[in-house]
Amino acid sequence: MNPTALTILIAYSAVSVLALIVLLWVWKSTHSFDADREDTADTEKLAHGEKPWFMFAVVCLAILGLATLAFIPYGDNAAAEGQQQVSVDGRQFAWVINPGTIKPDIPVRFEVTAADVNHGFAVYNDDNILLFQIQAVPKSTSHIVYTFKEPGRYQVVCLEFCGVDHHNMIGALQVSE
Ligand code: CUA
Repeated sequence: MNPTALTILIAYSAVSVLALIVLLWVWKSTHSFDADREDTADTEKLAHGEKPWFMFAVVCLAILGLATLAFIPYGDNAAAEGQQQVSVDGRQFAWVINPGTIKPDIPVRFEVTAADVNHGFAVYNDDNILLFQIQAVPKSTSHIVYTFKEPGRYQVVCLEFCGVDHHNMIGALQVSE
């Protein structure tokens, strides 16, 4: 098992156990185990506290909403000044990438389409780590913006099964000053 999968497994297990404990705690708190127990709760006082708690929840949600608004990713792939433009055309079984050489540290906006069937435009670095991927769809152009930090040769791979030579649909991007 690779380290990422192991981390995910451990994290999910821990969250599951925690959720189970919380569920059991809630269940226990809502069940009376003493049949003769008298209900001494002051319902008037509890009702009085409902409004402040409701307002507290609303304020918490509002703060959370406002604080995270700036991190919404929609629009990240929009065209902007100073970007490099690269057109990508996927076809059975090759990538037509123009231009094939780009500069580091300047955002690259890829315009991705396909000539025949669906392809998956995926870019990997030297360590075979997937940097990003986007669908290449016929009669439609998809956009993705990525900034390459390191100069070098990046491998382009098709991640959508597109025919008998799908596995040979390999291309390259050159990043250099
Ligand atoms: Cu193109 Cu698989």
